[in-house]
This record gives sequence, structure tokens and C-alpha cells, in this order.
Amino acid sequence: MMSKDNIIQSEFPQAEGLIYLNHAGVAPWPARTRDAVVEFARENVVYGASRYYLFIEKENRLRRQAKDLINAPSVDDIALLKNTSEALSVVAAGIRWNRGDNVVTSAEEFPSNWIPWDAQKIHGVTLKKVHIRERSSEQALIEACDNRTRLLSVSSVQFSSGIRLDLQLLGDFCRTNNILFCVDAIQSIGAHDIDVQKIQADFVMADAHKWMLGPEGIALFYCNEAVRDELNLYQHGWHMTTTPDDFDIRSWQPTKTARRFEPGSNNLLGVHALSASLGLIEDLGMRYIERELEARVSYLMERLAEHDRIRLITPGDSDRRSGIVAFQVTGSEQQELHKRLMENQVICALRGGAIRFSPHYYISMDKIDKSLDILTSTI
Ligand SMILES: Cc1ncc(COP(=O)(O)O)c(C=O)c1O
Repeated sequence: MMSKDNIIQSEFPQAEGLIYLNHAGVAPWPARTRDAVVEFARENVVYGASRYYLFIEKENRLRRQAKDLINAPSVDDIALLKNTSEALSVVAAGIRWNRGDNVVTSAEEFPSNWIPWDAQKIHGVTLKKVHIRERSSEQALIEACDNRTRLLSVSSVQFSSGIRLDLQLLGDFCRTNNILFCVDAIQSIGAHDIDVQKIQADFVMADAHKWMLGPEGIALFYCNEAVRDELNLYQHGWHMTTTPDDFDIRSWQPTKTARRFEPGSNNLLGVHALSASLGLIEDLGMRYIERELEARVSYLMERLAEHDRIRLITPGDSDRRSGIVAFQVTGSEQQELHKRLMENQVICALRGGAIRFSPHYYISMDKIDKSLDILTSTI
């Protein structure tokens, strides 16, 4: 069996000099994901879809992998959708709203986690956006809920500050108060453990292209069985029925499983790629990934904090942070600084007026040191 170090060495043959600190944006793939795509392309060229059962086996495998990764009770709770935004829209457009209902979310959310709720104002729904602060983030969200709150929707990790929320606390509150709980987990799944049962979530979604190291355009959507019927379906087609293989049907019923949210042919290219990416997480183990990522994030934060012109935006406590380290350099134009970092092959992002570094578990400490040298020599 290959050691974890050897696996990492063979999986990430990235370009010489490239320092990839943008896993919270669009992440690189491991080599096995490339291989899976090449193999799928070869299969299609040589055999077409004549061995379609192989594709279906892969799709079923991906549902099992997703179920295990987030500890869903069953594969039937997992739908494969296009992206996080689509999954949020399936929930927002699916709920049978009553006039006067409200939705609570944070004021620092990525647009995909407020636009679908805001769009429900045509049904008389109000969106309450709450400014969250490091220590009392959950309290602020809870205090904003009232007896007309239908749903609380948060990102597990805020995309620009990197604040990680206590989902268990929020899930407990929602369950006790009969409020639907929706978690955009794109900034968590693949970076740290997400257990949908422990956090008592009703809906959890994440596209593959960040911490799972998969491609864009395929997303996992968990929908708790207990509330599945509460969502109206607004996309329809052959694939979401109880009899997807019968093309002569004259009547139809949506299947009880989360496949009811998948109207037609799935993104099988994405299925093959994501299954390979999740295979790497299985080989290394979430605990290993979390530990290595945390080591890199805390090292980065310590080194950044040594510099008197650098102001960290990401909170210091280890239970508050994930894979995102956001900071500003006083006396520097952040946009200009971001440009210079990118020119020097430090791939990072500019979000909310701050520089955002997001390493992953496989980025070597040498590369992190190099990124810090480039940063300090440019400011
Ligand atoms: C918190 C969060 N939600 C949603 C998205 C968008 O995801 P998708 O493109 O899969 O809809 C992003 C992308 O950066 C994000 O950070």
C-alpha cells in the first residue's frame, strides 16, 4: 500500500513555481480525476454508450460515496444536481410559502445563498440578513428568528471571512423551533467533517469544485426524507419518476427518493470525475485531511500575525476557522497586491476587500513559506 506522502506526491503534479492557495475558489484536480475523465472519454469513443450499465454503476457508487462522506442515512437522500445555486433554488422555489413567512440568513453570504430567498418576495416572503460577528454569530442568527421564520439558511463557512459556524447549535435550535435548516456546505465538504444527521440539517448542498477537488458543474444535494414532500417540484422529466426505464408510460409519479430533483440525464462526465476525487478523500481519510489543513491554516495565520502591517480578518480560534485565511495589508491597495501575488504565481482571491488564501492539505509547507516571502517582499 502506498503511504499518504507518496499518494500526495503522485496525485498533485502541479506546474513548477505554482503556489495554489485558492481552493475556496476553483480548486485543481488530483491526477486520478484526470485519469477518470480520460478513461470515460475513451469508453465513449470506443464503445459509445453500449456499456451504459458501467455508467450507472459509477453513478450509484458516487451516491454511496456522497452518503458516506456526509453521513446521510441513505443513498436515497442524495440528488446529483448542477451546482450549489441550483440546489438552493430547488429548496427556495419548492417550499410552499405562506405570505408573511420569513427566511433568516447572514448578511455576509455568497449571492447564491440570498438571491433565491430574496426572489420569494413575490410570495410575500421577507428575507432577514443578519450581520454576524465572530463570537456571537449563532446567537445573532437565532435572535433574528421569530414565529414566522420558515427557514434558516447559512453557509457552513463564510466565503470571504472564513468564519465557521456551529452548525450543531443552529440545527438544534431549528429542530426545537420547527424551522427548516439549510446549509450551503460548499466551503466545508472535503475540508472538514460534515455530518448531516449530527447537525440535523434538512438540506445540504455543495458543488464539487472547491474542497472536494472535483470539477465544476456537479453538486451533491442532501434532502432529509422527513421534509422531502414539503418541496414542490418545478423541474420535470423522465428521470425523476418511479419508472425511469419505461418510456411508454401514460401516467407518472415522482419517485420518493431525492432522484425526484433530477429531471433528466445526469452529468456523467462529472459523475466519473467527482467519484475519482471522492476516492482520494476515502484513501486519505477526512481526519488526516482536516489535521493537515488545520496545520497549514494555523501556520499561515501565525506567520501573518507576526507582520505589523497585516490585519487578519479570519478569526483566531481553531473552532471558528476552516480552510480560508483572509487578511488586509494596511497602507497597500489590496487590488494591486492581489494582482502582484497572482503575477508571482501565488494563486489566491480578493474577496470582501481582503486577500483570501485558501490552501489545502497537500500544499507543502515550503510552498506556504514561499507565498509568505513573496507577500512580504511585495508590500
Ligand atoms: C458559499 C458559496 N456558496 C455558493 C457558491 C457558488 O456555488 P455554485 O457555483 O456551485 O453555485 C460559492 C462559490 O464561491 C460559495 O462560496
